Amino acid sequence: MKTNIKNICCIGAGYVGGPTMSVIADKCPDISVNVVDKNSERIALWNHSNLDLLPIYEPGLDEIISRCRGKNLTFSTKIREKISSADMVFISVNTPTKTKGIGAGQASDLKWVEACARDVAKFSIGHTIVVEKSTLPVKTAEVIKKILEASQITKNFQIEKSFDVLSNPEFLAEGTAIKDLEKPDRVLIGGEKNDAILALHNIYSKWVPKEKILHTNIWSSELAKLTSNAFLAQRISSINSIGAICEATGADVREVARAIGSDSRIGSKFLDAGPGFGGSCFKKDILNLVYLSKYFGLDEVASFWEGVVKLNHWHQKRISILVVEKLFGSVSNKKIGILGFSFKANTNDTRESAAISICKDLIEEGAILYIHDPKVEENQISKDLGLNSINLNRKNKAKNKIQNSGDWFFASNIDEIFPEADAILILTEWKEYTNFDWEKISTKMRRPAWIFDARSILDPKELENTNLNLWRIGDGFNT
Ligand code: UDX
Ligand code: ADP
Repeated sequence: MKTNIKNICCIGAGYVGGPTMSVIADKCPDISVNVVDKNSERIALWNHSNLDLLPIYEPGLDEIISRCRGKNLTFSTKIREKISSADMVFISVNTPTKTKGIGAGQASDLKWVEACARDVAKFSIGHTIVVEKSTLPVKTAEVIKKILEASQITKNFQIEKSFDVLSNPEFLAEGTAIKDLEKPDRVLIGGEKNDAILALHNIYSKWVPKEKILHTNIWSSELAKLTSNAFLAQRISSINSIGAICEATGADVREVARAIGSDSRIGSKFLDAGPGFGGSCFKKDILNLVYLSKYFGLDEVASFWEGVVKLNHWHQKRISILVVEKLFGSVSNKKIGILGFSFKANTNDTRESAAISICKDLIEEGAILYIHDPKVEENQISKDLGLNSINLNRKNKAKNKIQNSGDWFFASNIDEIFPEADAILILTEWKEYTNFDWEKISTKMRRPAWIFDARSILDPKELENTNLNLWRIGDGFNT
């Protein structure tokens, strides 16, 4: 088997497939990298001449696309053609949590992965190495292998169509995807056959130091991905739980985090208390672990990990309840400015964003939200909230009547959110939210006015000469 790959096909042009393949194409000019997707609108955006319209916002991605696209990097819907010519196929499609049937609410829905495996089985020619890139439940490689093996063709005792399956989980974080891909902490390759592992190793070794490319068995690789995300999410639930104790006791979670983080065994990263973790991976991966543990009868293990997700959910509710309580027990018809809707800064992704549940709660309580985000578009927020924004006419009407349930307004201009607002709630740590003139803002808001900083981006000193009330996450002093 050849270990020198010349032609790659990646199925799935999403948050993982797009950036990963762009970096491989950039680092390996001698490899033809072809990204395919069944969604023609998404592909059209990947091919758009205006790089501001790429379907994914990642710092540095546009530069790579302009260097490689049309040379050794293509985006198309030609699934059959690109699989046929590939030596290596990456499966990089979405695996959301099942909403119905067996394992609903916990197990991942593998129907798209299965569809890809069937396409590879049908269209591939000769020997193909299939790489699982999507985050998958442990033992998914077995499903892929079974589908592929069923289509293996032997003629005159010669194998004409054959496969190897590798697990190569992605550890990139949104917003820093290009940096994470260019300088990874490690690359994990799980597999059974040395030649197949070497083929993928040779690609990464073009830019990743060899000692950072780890080889494991396929199940360890799949489980390591879930475990990494579970450990990271667990740290966030841990620090958020301590934040609640800080607020109750007069301690400050930033000081506690600094103190524990300087213990080298604990480390200082991923200790920022916030509005609760979001993103497409953490909750889904933990729920996969929970499902797996229950399947193997490990109920205590399952409830241990389930606790991390439960705490996150409780914590988001805690913030909405707290806002209502501070505003005299009612937010009905009150204007609240929401700063940030994405699940973290530097991404337009809103999947599982804490902002979704907090905004829904406040709307339910009757608040009129003015939502701003530098990258998230109005129609995405409408989809997430299950409610269209109010237009100006409805806004004026809304002002004139006491409403039972609230509404929201898309603030394309950030200055719209301050006048007459009762509160501002900071939910995403965008850099542009760190340089406000709070003295000026305080003159515009309705008094008594509150600033709720769920991301610790404000320095309380900045508000000292204003009559604004400040609540900061995990700050027992300002509570
Ligand atoms: C995560 C993993 O980091 C990455 O390795 C994996 O491949 C995919 O899942 P991502 O979801 O992009 O990446 O974001 P991440 O930076 O991990 O943040 C996840 C959530 O935790 C965000 O909502 C973020 O705001 C929150 N967070 C993170 C905190 O609240 N506090 C912290 O200290 C760090
Ligand atoms: P991720 O965060 O895992 O990258 P995304 O939802 O951003 O997930 O992207 C997954 C992409 O995979 C989507 O663009 C979707 O259209 C594509 N996709 C899903 N199933 C298939 C399939 N069978 N063939 C081709 N593309 C697929």
